[in-house]
Amino acid sequence: MTEEHHIMWIDVYFDGKKLSRTTLSPKAMAPCVTVKLTPKKPGTLTVVEECNLHGIWKNRAEVKTG
Ligand SMILES: [Fe+2]
Repeated sequence: MTEEHHIMWIDVYFDGKKLSRTTLSPKAMAPCVTVKLTPKKPGTLTVVEECNLHGIWKNRAEVKTG
């Protein structure tokens, strides 16, 4: 995380619904976010982030309940 190369924001989705956007400051923040989920049914967690040099990065994970 430097002014020259940093993650600008991180979005979190559950089953396509946006839960949060965290905007990051390269001087003050590590590129991470924590979200506590309490899903009523299984679904897909998607995290999207944007790097100022390399663009959009996306990852998905299946979330189980119980
Ligand atoms: Fe990057």
